Amino acid sequence: MNETAAVSAPEATLLRNPLCRPETRWPAPDPAVWTFHRRMPAYRETTLFDCPDLARRYGVGRVLVKAETQRLGLPSFKILGASWASYRALCEHLGFDPEPWANINDLARRISYLRPFSFAAATDGNHGRAVAFMARLLGFQCHIFVPAGTVPARIHAIQNEGATVTVVDGDYDAAVARSAEEASDRCLVISDTSWPGYDVTPRRVVDGYTTIFLEVEQALKAAGVGEPDAVIVPMGVGAFMSAAVGYYRSRDWKGSLVGVEPADANCVQVSAKAGEMTAVPGPHRSIMVGLNCGLPSPVAWPRVSTGVDWMVSVGDERARQGMRELAGAGVVAGETGAAALAALIALHGDASTAAFRESGLLGPDKTILLMVTEGATDRGNYRAVVGRPPEEVGTILTLAH
Ligand SMILES: Cc1ncc(COP(=O)(O)O)c(C=O)c1O
Repeated sequence: MNETAAVSAPEATLLRNPLCRPETRWPAPDPAVWTFHRRMPAYRETTLFDCPDLARRYGVGRVLVKAETQRLGLPSFKILGASWASYRALCEHLGFDPEPWANINDLARRISYLRPFSFAAATDGNHGRAVAFMARLLGFQCHIFVPAGTVPARIHAIQNEGATVTVVDGDYDAAVARSAEEASDRCLVISDTSWPGYDVTPRRVVDGYTTIFLEVEQALKAAGVGEPDAVIVPMGVGAFMSAAVGYYRSRDWKGSLVGVEPADANCVQVSAKAGEMTAVPGPHRSIMVGLNCGLPSPVAWPRVSTGVDWMVSVGDERARQGMRELAGAGVVAGETGAAALAALIALHGDASTAAFRESGLLGPDKTILLMVTEGATDRGNYRAVVGRPPEEVGTILTLAH
């Protein structure tokens, strides 16, 4: 199929979350997280784009794009969670915080006596690559488990960080189960998924994501721009959304949180409708691979179920359209990264989303913030969809292997 041809997209599915309790307050983000990230190599805030063409097209006052397309040398936001969670897991393993340290090389030297030492994780791509990257920085080994069918580009990207990759004969949950077996006094499992008896590290992963929202706050203040009226966040198991809820619902924010999922992996929406965590059986075949999850994370569910106002699920054609339109705004977004714009497109135009428009959130005085969580992680498909290689669209500081 010609990926750039216009194909009519199936209607989105919209849910006004019946479990939403926006008055519920969560603790404010821990400032230690951002302090930690500032000591990571090549730390710099990611760009908050102002996209007037998108604002005009979608009938709102302002569209802001927080572009997590290159973060700490990797093409997704995931390193923020993986780095903080692995650091805290290390501190717990050591029994103390190895402070003071100025940068990661300094930290790696201080804890070099642990070697040989390793991290293990399961992944559908971005999290595992981030854990492997962190292990490499610390001089540790790393073993990453991926589900059967993981595309070679993603496996190679993890291997390029120096990790051993094992393809598990099964799905993501099988990979998680296999990774858990690696835990030992010489190996820490850094999972972003919890299971009974293992939830501290997945919570730390969520905490790690809060740096993004603190950066947005700072950028808006510096630009003299008010807070967004709606924030659109992609949801896989909901860990990233859980961080968004933690930030926005730690204070008196009047806006709305909108979660977006792929049409056939909308486990958060289905769960909210059912009133409890509910599985959406696979296979999940969306090109928004980071969102191909069949069950919300139990760690994320309490915040996500009560903090998200609207949930929308979209098909792949919307994601492709989102990639192309973001490219037009100079933002290099991969398939999963484009999900937030895919949602805005559907919320603006689909008959099935009329209730959202009636809520007044798409008016000319509204500011919409899109969380674009991934760059061009699959170069071949990026080119097929957008019609240009990522380098021609925006500055690429990160090599997407
Ligand atoms: C690029 C990208 N965006 C969004 C998500 C969704 O995050 P979560 O699973 O925490 O909901 C993922 C998850 O892997 C991802 O890789």
